Formats: sequence, structure tokens, C-alpha cells
Amino acid sequence: MSTTLPPLPAFPPGFLWGASASAFQTEGAADTDGKGPSGWDAFAAQGRIKDGADASRGTGFHARYREDAALLAGLGADAFRFSVSWPRVVPGGSGPANTAGLDFYDRLVDELCTHGITPAPTLYHWDTPLPLDEAGGWLNRDTAARFAEYASVVAERLADRVPMWITINEPAEVTLLGYALGEHAPGKRLLFDALPAAHHQLLAHGLAVQALRAAGAANIGLAVSHSPVWTAGTSEEDRFGAELYDTITNWMFADPILTGRYPDENFAALMPGPVAEDLAVISEPLDWYGVNYYQPMVVGAPSKDALGDFAGVGLPAELPFGIRETESEQRTDFGWAVVPDGLRELLVLLKDRFGDKLPPVYITENGCSYDGLDDQRRIDFLDGHLRSLHEAIDAGVDVRGYFTWSLTDNIEWVEGAAQRFGLVHVDYETLKRTPKASYAWYRDAIAAQKSGH
Ligand code: NOJ
Repeated sequence: MSTTLPPLPAFPPGFLWGASASAFQTEGAADTDGKGPSGWDAFAAQGRIKDGADASRGTGFHARYREDAALLAGLGADAFRFSVSWPRVVPGGSGPANTAGLDFYDRLVDELCTHGITPAPTLYHWDTPLPLDEAGGWLNRDTAARFAEYASVVAERLADRVPMWITINEPAEVTLLGYALGEHAPGKRLLFDALPAAHHQLLAHGLAVQALRAAGAANIGLAVSHSPVWTAGTSEEDRFGAELYDTITNWMFADPILTGRYPDENFAALMPGPVAEDLAVISEPLDWYGVNYYQPMVVGAPSKDALGDFAGVGLPAELPFGIRETESEQRTDFGWAVVPDGLRELLVLLKDRFGDKLPPVYITENGCSYDGLDDQRRIDFLDGHLRSLHEAIDAGVDVRGYFTWSLTDNIEWVEGAAQRFGLVHVDYETLKRTPKASYAWYRDAIAAQKSGH
């Protein structure tokens, strides 16, 4: 068990301790109370979930949210990052809101508040209403406007009790996996023609920030995935490949949001619509910036030793970069390298790049996939990453909170039920929850932080 690890250093007073989850991965109840289908429901129904797991049941969160709120309370968590399912609230993607769908989030927020847990909803965690996907999804500019309408509907209902908002989650993954490589919904394999999906998500974010504020919501951020990118090799092609990957995955999203510019004029020229006007909306000032960190990426020129497959994603040979194995003594069950120091490196990089333009940061996701109830390796992972985070704070990065991914095991997108990221085990037959050793460790770590201040 965890008692062998020395206590964590003291985090700043008021530091927020939390856990994260998302609607598609947990809720189930795919057509309860008038919910419409999402692009992910359709993708799953086509058999695209690898182990054939019944994603439509999720973890049964829609029926069991009280149990999960009690688990959060047992952790002593300050906050819970969940997502609102867009097609549960606006089943048709546009048109009237579904009151019964909104009622669910109303109950969930109340339940969290009863336990003194801050609700931190994400408005878009990948489950686009199917009618919008059928009309082009994020390739269609109209989707951004529909998203802003939905954002105001949710804020009008919940802003009186929700003190922290997340517009969109990981737009880079949606663009790459959903539109460039075709491995996630909506399954489009457009390579560089996927760029409009990036621009329209960014626009959706900016319009949603405006809509949320107009509806009385405050304290708004988003969750962006970031990885330090390490260059493999020394050739010009290696440097080009690594830089391009870095630009696409890290800066194509962070730069427009935080500075109002695309990192490269060539990218800006490829984006659709009135880009300069849109950038003014996209860079609407934020109250905070959310970082999802899992592992650094080693990238160079495309070559035979590049991974043809990364985390289950087939990479087409025509891409001008190649992803290599990140060296590490430890790997998660997903095969991801365990590199805690990458979190410090990344946060310092963000601070160096953006300076005063970087608002206070929250780690909106960080975690690992390991099987088993006695998950010492997850404890070691969390311990290592929290130490690394503390070093970033010592180095001057203003980090205000940490949400681990995830409270419970859940449906890991196309990986189905096979990759278990939870502090709490879910038996997918019975949906029974069983806290793992890491749950007790996190609870004790949070308690130690609170008693120290
Ligand atoms: C990022 C995504 O936001 C989340 O949904 C996913 O489960 C984790 N990464 C782990 O892959």
C-alpha cells in the first residue's frame, strides 16, 4: 500500500483537488428522457468500439450519480469535472432544449453541492448531436453557432450554482482522431483537410465564452491536451517533423486562444471563413486555462522505425512526421510512457511561451490506465506527477488545482472497457463500484494537504 511514500509537499492554500469524467464515457442512458443520439452513439453502434463493450451503458452514471457523488465526498474532493451531454440537452442539435435532459444536470449539480463539491461542467466532451455530425460536424461553421446557443441554455439553468465552467475538451484530439485519422467519431480521414474542424471548434469555444458570460456564468476556461514534444534524431527532416507535430498538437489551439494568432501564417491561410474576425472571438479573455497531460511525445521524420500505430491509432505513411516510442522504464496498460517530469517541463514551457498571457492554470486531466484493485502503479503515477506539478509551482507557474482522470473506470472511447483509468473499479456486468488502493491514497493525500493549512 501507499504508506511507504513520503508525504507530498504542501500545495498552496486553496488549491483545488478534484477528479474528472465525461458524459459519453459514463452516463449510459443513451435514449432516456428524450436524449438524442450523438455521433459517438452512432460510431459505437457501427461496431467501432474495439472490445465490443456495450458503450451505451457507460458506467451507469445517469442512474448512479448519487453513489458517485458520495464517492467524491468520501475522497474529500473539492470539485468534480463532469461533462454535459449536448444531445441530452439539445437532442436535435438545434431547436428546442430538452427540459428532462437539463433536469438531470440540475439534480447532479444539486447533489454535488449538497456534499460541498464544486461542480465543474465541460460543455463539449466529444459527443456532438448526430444531426450536426450528419451536417458536417465541426467542418460546418454552423456547428459553432449551435454550440453557443446550447451553452447559453445550460448556463441559464445552472449558472446560479456552477462556479467553474469548461467550454470544450481536447479540440486537438477531436481534429486529429475524429477528422484527420478517422479513428474516432465521426470517422473522417481527411489528413490536412481536417483543419477547418480545428478552427470551428476554436470559434465554438470563443462564442461559448461570450454566451456563457451573457447568461451570467463566470470563471470560464477550457481543457487543452498538451505534451512536451521531444525531437527524435538530428536531421533537418527530424526537426521539421517534430516542429510540425508540436505546432499542430500544442500551439494550433493554445496560440489562437491565448494570443489571438495562429502559430504559423501558413496555418492561418488554410483556415476557413473570416479568420481575423474569428480570432478576435477565439481569444476572448479566459479566467483560467486547463491542461490535460498524459505523456511527452518523441517525434521526428517519417521512417521505418516510427510507430505505424500509436495508442491504437493507425498513422498514414504520408504524414510528414513519425512518432517514436518514448523511452521510459514504466508504461501504463495502454503502453503510454510514465514521465512525471514532463508535466513540470510542459508547464514551464507554457509559462515561457505565453508569459502574462497565461491565465491561472488548472490540470483538468492527468491519470493512467492500470488494471487491478491494488493499483500501486497508479499511486506511484499520481504521486510522481503531483511532485512534478509542485516543482512547476515552485518555478513560478500559477497552478490552482488538479483533477485526476478519472473518478471511476469508464469507456475509453474506441478502447471500450479495456483501459481502466479509475480510482474506483467498475464491474461492467453489475456496474458495482469498488474503490481501489489509489482511492484511499488520494483521499489521504487530500486530507494531509487540508490538515497542513
Ligand atoms: C483525454 C480525454 O479527454 C478523455 O476522455 C480520455 O479518457 C483520456 N484522455 C484518456 O485517454
